[in-house]
Amino acid sequence: MQRILVANGPNLNLLGTRQTEVYGHTTLQTIEDLCRTHGETLGQTVTHMQSNHEGALIDAIHAARGTQDGIVLNAGAFTHTSVALMDAISSAEVPVVEVHLSNIHAREAFRHKSYIARVAIGQICGFGAQSYVLALEALAAHLAEGHTG
Ligand code: DQA
Repeated sequence: MQRILVANGPNLNLLGTRQTEVYGHTTLQTIEDLCRTHGETLGQTVTHMQSNHEGALIDAIHAARGTQDGIVLNAGAFTHTSVALMDAISSAEVPVVEVHLSNIHAREAFRHKSYIARVAIGQICGFGAQSYVLALEALAAHLAEGHTG
């Protein structure tokens, strides 16, 4: 089984009620259930964490080293600001797929820049909850090819 951590950053705990015109009505709980069940079909054991705190996300990435085979990361607004998260990913040697519910490239200019993209194996955005499913698929294929880190 591939061990996958799905990590969500600030404000994503509010999904379902937060800016529904941008992020839709799907709750984080529904996304977590979707990832768990879809991951099972891919031979993945999916665990979840969400935090509104940059340090907690960094700690989770550090803890993934040697204990997870891949990370699906929606860093929320920290995507656009956090050199610290970028450095944590560089140090963890665990492949990361960056995800976003919205198409960040079609939104405000400040959302076009991603520090995560520099160190992720790829980025999936704009597909709502399906972005997470596509990220699990991408990690399954990446890991099946024998890639690590
Ligand atoms: C987001 C996009 C970010 O720009 C924003 O700050 C979020 C959510 C997304 O999933 O579309 O919090 O990561």
